[in-house]
This record gives sequence, C-alpha cells and structure tokens, in this order.
Amino acid sequence: MNPKLELTPAEMRELGYRVVDLIADHFSQLPQKPVGRKGDPAVLRPLFQTPPPETPTPAPEILDRLQREVFPSILNVAHPRFFAFVPIPSNYVSVLADALASGFNVFNGSWLGGSAAAALELAVIDWFRHWCGFPRSAGGLFVSGGSMANLTALAAARHAHLDDRTSGAVIYYSDQTHSSIDRALRVIGFLPDQIRRIPSDEQFRLPIQALAHHVKQDRAAGKKPFAVIANAGTINTGAIDPLREIAGFCRAENLWMHVDGAYGAAAVICDRGKLLLDGLDLADSLSFDPHKWLFQPIECGCVLLRDAAYLKSAYRIMPEYLADVHRNAAEVNPCDYGIQLTRGFRALKVWMSIHYFGLGAFRAAIERGFALAEFAERKLRQMPAWEIVSPAHMAIVCFARRGADDRFYERIHNAMLADGYALATSTVLNGRTVLRLCTINPRTIETDIEQTLDWLESAANKHE
Ligand SMILES: Cc1ncc(COP(=O)(O)O)c(C=O)c1O
Repeated sequence: MNPKLELTPAEMRELGYRVVDLIADHFSQLPQKPVGRKGDPAVLRPLFQTPPPETPTPAPEILDRLQREVFPSILNVAHPRFFAFVPIPSNYVSVLADALASGFNVFNGSWLGGSAAAALELAVIDWFRHWCGFPRSAGGLFVSGGSMANLTALAAARHAHLDDRTSGAVIYYSDQTHSSIDRALRVIGFLPDQIRRIPSDEQFRLPIQALAHHVKQDRAAGKKPFAVIANAGTINTGAIDPLREIAGFCRAENLWMHVDGAYGAAAVICDRGKLLLDGLDLADSLSFDPHKWLFQPIECGCVLLRDAAYLKSAYRIMPEYLADVHRNAAEVNPCDYGIQLTRGFRALKVWMSIHYFGLGAFRAAIERGFALAEFAERKLRQMPAWEIVSPAHMAIVCFARRGADDRFYERIHNAMLADGYALATSTVLNGRTVLRLCTINPRTIETDIEQTLDWLESAANKHE
C-alpha cells in the first residue's frame, strides 16, 4: 500500500525515462508505423471493462499494456501520411512542455495561483495579437481548442451586443462554416430560425451580396441582425471569406464580426498566409488553434477579442472566496476572461517550442504545407482518372474519381484504414462527394504524397 501516492526519486526517474523512451520512439518511428487503426467496439470495450485493481500493478506491466492495447488503436494524427480532417502534427518540445506544466501542476487560472504563468500567457497572447494585426486593446486566452474558442467568443459577443438577450437576433455565415459554430450557437441559446446559413460562392466563400440581402430582409421583418461569422480557412477547402469586405459591411451595419480562424489563422505568420488573410485584423473576435497549423499537441486553442474588456465583462464574477485573488488591477486573472477557473498552462507549449525552434522554423513549416498541397495537385492533374474539384488552397486539395459514386469513397476510406499506409477522408462539395488531402504536417515528404496517390490509384482500380 502506498497511501501517500508517492514515488522515490529513483522510481520517478525510472518510470519517467521509460515514458520518455516510449514517446521518443513514437516520434522517431512514426513514418514507418501505420497511420493508425480504428478498433472494433466489441473487442476494445470489454478489454477495459474491468473493476479498478485494489492492489498495485507494476509500472512496466501498465506501460506494456498501453503499448499493446491502447496506442495501436488510435489514429496517429501527427503521422506524415495522415491527410484526413485536420492533422495535428505536434512537436516533441511541446510534449515536454505539457509534461512540465503538468509536473509543476501550474494553476493558470489566477495571478495569485500562477503569476509567472499568467504573465507568460499574456505575452504569448500578445504575440498572436501582433501577428493578427489587432490593436493594443485586444486580448484573449488559451482554451482547449477551436470549438471552445468559438463558444467563448460568441458568448462574449452575445453579452456585448445583445446584453445576453437572444430573442429576435439573427446570425449569418456560409454553408462551409464548421459545425462547432452551430454547436456554440445552440449552447448560447440560438434557435435554428435565428441562423442564416448562406450558400457559398463558386470558391466556397461567403457571398457578400447574399449576406447583405439577408440582413436587409431580416431588418425589414423586424429582426435584429447580430453577427457574421467569417471563415479564415474552412475545413472543407481552406476557403477564406472576403474578410475585408465583410468587416466593412459589419461596421456599416453594426454587426459583430467573428472570424473562425481555428484552421487557417496561424498561416498569418508567413508571407503567403498574410496576403491571403487580408482583413483578419478587422475582426471583433477570432478563434485561432495552435493545435492545428501551429504544430502544438492536443489541446491548444486560443480566442482573441479586439477589445479584451468584452471578455471581462462577459465572464468576470467575483465571489467572496476569491476576494484575495482580485486585490490588484495590474494582476490579470485568466479566469476573468473565460469559462474555466482551474486551468492548465497551455501557453507554455507554444512559448517553449517557439523559443526552441525559433519563429522562422514555424514560418517555413507553414509554407511547406502550402507547397505540399500544390505538389499533390500537380501530381493529381497527371492522373487522368481523377479530377481536381477544389485546387490546392491553404494546404488543402479536394479531388474526385471520374464517374465514381458516393459508396466508392467509403470503400476507399475503409481500405485506407485497413491498410494503414496513409489516410484521407471525404467531404461533400456542391452535393458531390470528394476526397480531401490536408497537408499541414511539415514532416511529410514528397514521396509520401506520391506513394499515397499511387496507393489511391491502385485501390481505386480494385474498388470501382
Ligand atoms: C474551421 C474550424 N473551426 C473549428 C474547428 C473546431 O476545432 P477543435 O476541433 O479544436 O474544437 C475546426 C476543427 O477542425 C475547424 O477546422
């Protein structure tokens, strides 16, 4: 029995080194490993449905079991041939930062609980503010991911613009917008008839004329147009809505402009991205996901508001038991700016990895994502049985097999999963099912793409 739940320094080191060895092997062997596996619920669930053991299990046995029963049945979202959904390429330095944040059990909810952590988070948020071109009044905080960033921003917008009263308010966005926005709106009390999901244009962007038409119609019907969600990189095709025009429209119409940059906003740190993301600086609020294209491990999202005071007025509550936390205005308490009180030190991984590699490496890593998708597009154009449906844009390319029906893509996806060499997923564009490659992993090499496309060609011949 070990009722203090303690290890000796030697035991801690031994277990720690074993864990580090596992992670280091995982990173270095990833290209040779399968891209992942989806387990059968009938097999996997009973494996773990045992009562908690009353007595200790030796550490090597626990780790062996993880290696046998857990890690083989996950998708390796940082694998260089994981092209599905949005890959999460991660990096080893940030993994260690997570271990440090957890090891020192850093409380990043208040200045009192972790003053240096709060200061470091504020500094990283200020990097983001600067990259996105937001004014000094801007601020924000780290959250779990894009879904939470969207929710945090939209609840603040509701507070600032509607005084929390959603009745009659209407919100506008394109049909390419991520489902986390629909979920956030459901959570903050919007009903389906308060949402205008506007068909996108031929480049999958929100058409400003249709937007203006809906707003005018709603005003005439006595409704309260409230906000526009603009995309800075849609999940389907990487489309960027016309941010500058939307911002102008929102100013003229007194609408809140939220930009969902969960996928694409990180690209603003490189020249190509900055050009494409013109107008990002005009948003009232922005979601930005370092666990996607800024190469951080799960979980790492971020929300930025053009005026941080809106976050504070939406979220700050001062109960009597936190009076000691709120004594000095210069001491910023992250819990005043979002939903969590007790929160981890997510900023550390961004800070530590950027210090370790230098921002230039991150810029180049993002540029590489653009180039890899263009490489894939060029290769696909040389494959006569396939056609490009949405050309390489923001590291995403969508393509279809000529004459294939929807079931074909399901068979291909299943075959990819079963084989494990590479993984792509499908989506639907203009009613047509397509395959999609998202190439943001900087450790992907051209051969990975060539061989994945060769693999697809021969699988397609088998599964047509
Ligand atoms: C554009 C966009 N917004 C929001 C999200 C949700 O982010 P998360 O999965 O981190 O909650 C995603 C996820 O892929 C996304 O691509």
